[in-house]
Amino acid sequence: MRIALIGAGKVGLELIRQTATNPMHKYVGITDTSGTVTKYSGFTPDEMMGLVALKSRGGKLKDYDDGGSHVTQRMEDVLGNNVDVVVDVSSHQTYGFLMAALESGINVVGSNKLPYADTRAADFRRLFAKAKEKGKVLDNRTVVSANLGTLVRIQEFVSTAGGVSYIRGGLSGTMGYISWRMDQGASFSQAVNEAISEGYTETDFRIDLKGMDSARKAVIMARTNNVPLEVSAVNVEQFLPPELENVSVEEALKNLAALDKQMKSRVERAKQNGSTLRYVGELDFDKWVFEIGFKEIPLDDPQASTKNSWNKVTMFPRYWNGQPLSVEGPGAGINVTTQGLMAGLYELAS
Ligand SMILES: NC(=O)c1ccc[n+]([C@@H]2O[C@H](COP(=O)([O-])OP(=O)(O)OC[C@H]3O[C@@H](n4cnc5c(N)ncnc54)[C@H](OP(=O)(O)O)[C@@H]3O)[C@@H](O)[C@H]2O)c1
Repeated sequence: MRIALIGAGKVGLELIRQTATNPMHKYVGITDTSGTVTKYSGFTPDEMMGLVALKSRGGKLKDYDDGGSHVTQRMEDVLGNNVDVVVDVSSHQTYGFLMAALESGINVVGSNKLPYADTRAADFRRLFAKAKEKGKVLDNRTVVSANLGTLVRIQEFVSTAGGVSYIRGGLSGTMGYISWRMDQGASFSQAVNEAISEGYTETDFRIDLKGMDSARKAVIMARTNNVPLEVSAVNVEQFLPPELENVSVEEALKNLAALDKQMKSRVERAKQNGSTLRYVGELDFDKWVFEIGFKEIPLDDPQASTKNSWNKVTMFPRYWNGQPLSVEGPGAGINVTTQGLMAGLYELAS
């Protein structure tokens, strides 16, 4: 397989490490924010590891030179190299680029959520319709809960059993960790600080607290379930007061304890009600209710037992007579995401 790799960050470099010596994979182009490096004959495993070394020490692809490769500034240049598959592991809006790749008869595998979530539902449909029209693979299984197979299961239910009528999910490792630690007795600010030191949060931890990542995943699950949901229709609980919003990250972190009392009383109220407070997304496709936030979850609900930063998604297939299917495990992480991408590549190859 001749591969064009879009993005050479944590996941992209791990994919190279795990596949560069496999003769099934021939990398013929790689892009980052600085530009695109291509080589028609394909990079050798040694050259690929040279690229990994360059990126790992903070270098940029525009500075790569092995004597035989070609460096340009346009991402599109990566496509003109007899490519079989584009692997999109960038953090950029690649919708137009992926559409052009499919149009040219190139398969797409990727973990980048933006082309599937930060676009209109009609665009999402158009992208999959283009793949179908061209008889190509568009594999986005890792964009929701990495390698847990959530989207694959939803796709199966859509094609065989009328889709899914309801989904409840802990979709954010960060928020799952914070609610689990509060349930164990940690204060809100302590739990957030722990999540930061564990490396679960974005650089600005408020992005996690604002629930945008969960909202994107909710939209992608809904669209996969053939429901044309837009991010604007998802009701995401906003609990950050303005004094934590309009200041620097350091200042916000210092003042986080201002929320401790309020969060503690929510945790205690949930316990008095025989429940636990968890950060979950609820997608009720029949009632058209899409909500994300802290909710009181009864202790016998599958969501109540999530631990650490794991994701758990519980879905109700339409013809399962109210019985749920839950998938649970690490919903993010460089290794598990890379494994999901490799599963997509192997499926494509076979
Ligand atoms: N890490 C996870 O656990 C995980 C799980 C599921 C999904 N994902 C998604 O997978 C993708 C990759 O994750 P990651 O952790 O590897 O992110 P990352 O370390 O931030 O890497 C992102 C890569 O995309 C490149 N990039 C950004 N804008 C670009 C542009 N305009 N043109 C070309 N390249 C561009 C960056 O280039 P530079 O190197 O020049 O900055 C970088 O190499 C992200 O979309 C992420 O949301 C990640």
